[in-house]
Amino acid sequence: MNPDPRRARPRSSLGIHCTWAPDGGVDQASAPIVDMGEFGPYAGPHRLADAEIDGELVRITWDDAVQAVYHRLWLRDNCACADCRHPQTRERTVKLVDIDEPGRPEVTSDSDGALTCTWADGHVSRFDPNWLRQRRPEADGPAQPTPRLWTSARMADGLPSVDHHAVMNTNDGLRRWLDALSRDGATLVTGGPTQPGEVVRLAERIGWPRETNFGRHFDVQSKPNPNNAAYTAIRLEPHVDLPNWQRPPDFQFLYCLENKADGGESLLVDGFAVAGGLAEEDPEAFETLCTLPVDFRFQDAENDIRYRAPVIGRDADGAVREIRFNNWIRDAQPMDPAAAERFYRGYRRFWELLRDPKYMIRFPLKPGCMMAFDNLRVLHGREEFFPNTGKRHLQGCYVDRDLVDSRLRVLERT
Ligand code: OGA
Ligand code: ZN
Ligand code: ZN
Repeated sequence: MNPDPRRARPRSSLGIHCTWAPDGGVDQASAPIVDMGEFGPYAGPHRLADAEIDGELVRITWDDAVQAVYHRLWLRDNCACADCRHPQTRERTVKLVDIDEPGRPEVTSDSDGALTCTWADGHVSRFDPNWLRQRRPEADGPAQPTPRLWTSARMADGLPSVDHHAVMNTNDGLRRWLDALSRDGATLVTGGPTQPGEVVRLAERIGWPRETNFGRHFDVQSKPNPNNAAYTAIRLEPHVDLPNWQRPPDFQFLYCLENKADGGESLLVDGFAVAGGLAEEDPEAFETLCTLPVDFRFQDAENDIRYRAPVIGRDADGAVREIRFNNWIRDAQPMDPAAAERFYRGYRRFWELLRDPKYMIRFPLKPGCMMAFDNLRVLHGREEFFPNTGKRHLQGCYVDRDLVDSRLRVLERT
């Protein structure tokens, strides 16, 4: 077990940067030597100096004496010719299962410095030397956006913020916003209009909203007959939305259209930082929250959506991957008294730390501003507000991480 949540951002196993480059990377100025059917960049300065077959392996040497070995089957499987990869979809069409044993290829480093493999059945595969370099067996995967965990001190001057106009109208503004969102897990988009629907237009800069039982987007207002605490005026303790779903939404956007009521300040806290704090001060409590399954449940006239999972989710390497904390939709689950003893002790301490001003920030969300945050990392909440003192109206929606990661990768292609 490694309780340090500051390790690599786990869930985002999809990398964000297209530049591969553990060794200095892609030279955007030069053109690829062989079309490998990639949208992402892979042109670079290197050419092959040598190629040889060594048993099952193909050993290549680049012009700077760096070497790598590839299994012959890997090379056959990754041939990018028009017979092996669909020229339009760029997807693999070669099916190793249908090829007789391809044998050991004859290999050469050809006059362009590319690798040519000639297989037993006469099929010829060519590989770009810089594409091969990106995919050396020992190369790191695509660079990950490193999460920057924060306490309130780091956000003393406010959340990372990007102007609405820049996000809506420029690729650079969009890229800056999504980069900060991926790393800090919380951002503001400022200076936007106060017409309804803007929250969805922002989501559509990325892709499309993730629909839930609250709709494609939702109006956060004090409503008659609320089916959710957010639709009342009560204080909302820091929480994650929809931990009662097997796959809760990854990102949440809350756009302020009107905020004239007294109270209602927004609250945010980096749950990964708090989990790290708990692991340090009370490893036993941390372990309890990582292992004891908790039932979450939303019920109204049409739905009964439940999921059971620990408050702190870890990945296979022991890094914190997600937080599920939402006190009002935690179900009345049967609990062994000894487990209850452990659970309430750990849960209380985690909750105290979530509220601790060392971690939590509090700010008024202004009309035309939107907070966007990683719903499974940064917990959000609000102070009580008083509807008889003025109107408060937010609109919210959710967006999948795959879409955020994908938009960033596409923006970073150029
Ligand atoms: C929500 C929520 C916070 C607010 O709608 O999920 O937590 O400021 N709202 O009203
Ligand atoms: Zn081929
Ligand atoms: Zn919420």
